[in-house]
Amino acid sequence: MCKKCYITTPIYYASGDVHIGNSYSTIVCDTFARYHRLKQDETYFLTGMDEHGQKIEEAAKKQNKTPQAFVDEVALRTKTLWKNLEITNDDFIRTSEKRHTKIVQKIFEQLLSQDDIYLGTYEGDYCVPCEAFFTKTQLNEDGTCPDCGRKTIKVQEESYFLRLKKYEKQLYQFIQEHEDFIQPETRRNEVLSFIEQGLEDLCVSRTSFEWGIPVLSNPKHVIYVWIDALANYLTALGYQSDDDELYQKFWNHGDEVVHVVGKDILRFHAIYWPIMLMALHVPIRFKLYAHGWILMKEGKMSKSKGNIVYPMEVVQSYGLDALRYYLVKEMPLGNDGIFTWERFIERYNVDLANDLGNLVSRSISMMNKYFDGKVEKPKKNEFSYDQEVEETIKNTIATYIDSFDHFQFQNGLIAVWELIDRMNKYIDETSPWVLAKDEKQKEALQDVMYHLYEGLRLVAIMISPVMPATSQIILEELKVEESLKTFSSLQFGLTPASRVIEKAKVLFQRLNMEEELKKHELNACSDE
Ligand code: MSP
Repeated sequence: MCKKCYITTPIYYASGDVHIGNSYSTIVCDTFARYHRLKQDETYFLTGMDEHGQKIEEAAKKQNKTPQAFVDEVALRTKTLWKNLEITNDDFIRTSEKRHTKIVQKIFEQLLSQDDIYLGTYEGDYCVPCEAFFTKTQLNEDGTCPDCGRKTIKVQEESYFLRLKKYEKQLYQFIQEHEDFIQPETRRNEVLSFIEQGLEDLCVSRTSFEWGIPVLSNPKHVIYVWIDALANYLTALGYQSDDDELYQKFWNHGDEVVHVVGKDILRFHAIYWPIMLMALHVPIRFKLYAHGWILMKEGKMSKSKGNIVYPMEVVQSYGLDALRYYLVKEMPLGNDGIFTWERFIERYNVDLANDLGNLVSRSISMMNKYFDGKVEKPKKNEFSYDQEVEETIKNTIATYIDSFDHFQFQNGLIAVWELIDRMNKYIDETSPWVLAKDEKQKEALQDVMYHLYEGLRLVAIMISPVMPATSQIILEELKVEESLKTFSSLQFGLTPASRVIEKAKVLFQRLNMEEELKKHELNACSDE
């Protein structure tokens, strides 16, 4: 079934460089996009940058740059990073682009004219040295600034507000009626109980800084962060522009719209965004997948803790697929995952070098040794294990599809690695080196090679959204023909015959834990 799918990442703040934590969102979205393309779904994958706001204005000032020059540089570095991580996004939206700012102003004016936005007074606690407003809940217990610890003052500022209260009931009902709107369920429940406490109208403009989209009818105000940022999902599709073909195709008439967000920005996407759409009379077509955080040993990654890991650091030492595998595999949807060099190297050695890498090299070497690289479909199964392996393959494919369809990549990969384990065990059970000594066992030996060949072909297809390069190498080494690399060929027994490459590449070289940890100047930590 061919579907039209629109997949988005959050747009990243241009206040600094993207680290391994926020790259996680992009890598899982890329996995999802690649999976849909594998299924032959028509897929549109969007990522981008959130470029306005006071923080960015200040960061630019510190570097003696205009905010525009500052965000241009960050955007360029981020684009290059995505290229290096082989992210297959179709578009990269920047909120300082004209195509975005123009429509955001239009949306704002529309909401204003409908009285969904009104002018009021924002009362808040302000930290003068930090030049920042804070809500009551953000302040320290003694009312001081959460950033610098100094006293805050009460200030009033004229601001526009978006009516959230007006839509509270409608939103609550919508979430209740659409069980899969927010996933996983724990996050959905959090949102429902938040709404039950009652919504306050949201302040959506500021007069205290300049780096933002001016309100068209009152330019001393700039549109404050969330209306600007959330609208990217529509402006990138050409919503309300002269060319809204993508909007019509992927939003209005699309089959699946997926916004992937970290747990810290779920509320904005689960509350402000649907309310904005309700007010704009745009159908709510999206589902939200909320993921947890990648934590370090010391907790969250932060500059002050000095524990930030940048993705290219990992890629340069261990390769892209190892990074992609680790991130996708280590994070159960909705919960936090952990990154430590020790854990990363352990997974690299066990899952990649030992389990997958060995299976590929052992299998290809035996196919060459015993049959000159030729593999043929056997006339019958020779072993009781054959049936078991075929059964495992069938179940793995079913679990894989069900998991990947529902953004549960970890479960899908666990199933694939169970199959890899099963195949390694199958080699030990059938002992091809013993069979090879007896000419009468030739067909049995051929049968074993064929099961390994098919198993590897299917593993390579299934890992392709996560580890595209590794998948491609395996498929090339097995000399799988194009028609058998597809989603619809995820089935045991479709290969009539093949001739594999003479010698397999070492896919993942085993690493020495101590040496590697030394390189990262970290001591082996006892597992979290
Ligand atoms: N600009 C807003 C999003 C606007 S979307 C309309 C923003 N940007 S951000 O750069 O701060 O964060 C982008 C994403 O990265 C968020 O989904 C956030 O949860 C995610 N992550 C930031 N640190 C992370 C980890 N350590 N681990 C996983 N994701 C992390 O919020």
